[in-house]
Amino acid sequence: MAAARDELRALILDLDTMTGHAVLSNALRSLLDTNSTMAAWQSSFHADDGVDDVNEEAQLTIERVVQEALANARQHAEASTVQVRLTRSDGLVTVVVADDGVGLPAEVSTAGTGHGGIRAMHERIWLVGGTLHIESDPGRGTRVVITAPRHA
Ligand SMILES: Nc1ncnc2c1ncn2[C@@H]1O[C@H](COP(=O)(O)OP(=O)(O)OP(=O)(O)O)[C@@H](O)[C@H]1O
Ligand SMILES: [Mg+2]
Repeated sequence: MAAARDELRALILDLDTMTGHAVLSNALRSLLDTNSTMAAWQSSFHADDGVDDVNEEAQLTIERVVQEALANARQHAEASTVQVRLTRSDGLVTVVVADDGVGLPAEVSTAGTGHGGIRAMHERIWLVGGTLHIESDPGRGTRVVITAPRHA
């Protein structure tokens, strides 16, 4: 299992261009700005001090997962407001992407056992030793909660 994970990790790293990245909080702020313009959302952004202290691989993964969460919000949520928050606790950075849209349909698994996008989000975060939870309130919105390890 660990060997398979290492292989997948290396493969994903090979596929990525690692140059020219902003620090995590700036990268997520600009993803939120771009998607908010496209979807005409009101947006709100918050980042604690110290949240940029993640390794490059974790950062790239978080960026991709947040991009997928924002794409899902654009495609499915019918939201008017979207929030991105980065907070820091002892060994972790937590990123929350919250929309105030329609919520997930009852038949969609938040564990990512069904559709491609949500499943890929779970897999990517798992590969960098993090976690992903999706919480949804029908009619009131969806929250994607990501954690990833910070540098020691
Ligand atoms: N923020 C959201 N608000 C409402 N529904 C959502 C949201 N995110 C996902 N969904 C629902 O969950 C389903 C699964 O999402 P998922 O990203 O796995 O697949 P998809 O977006 O339909 O396709 P793709 O593989 O292109 O991502 C969506 O089809 C949609 O019904
Ligand atoms: Mg999707």
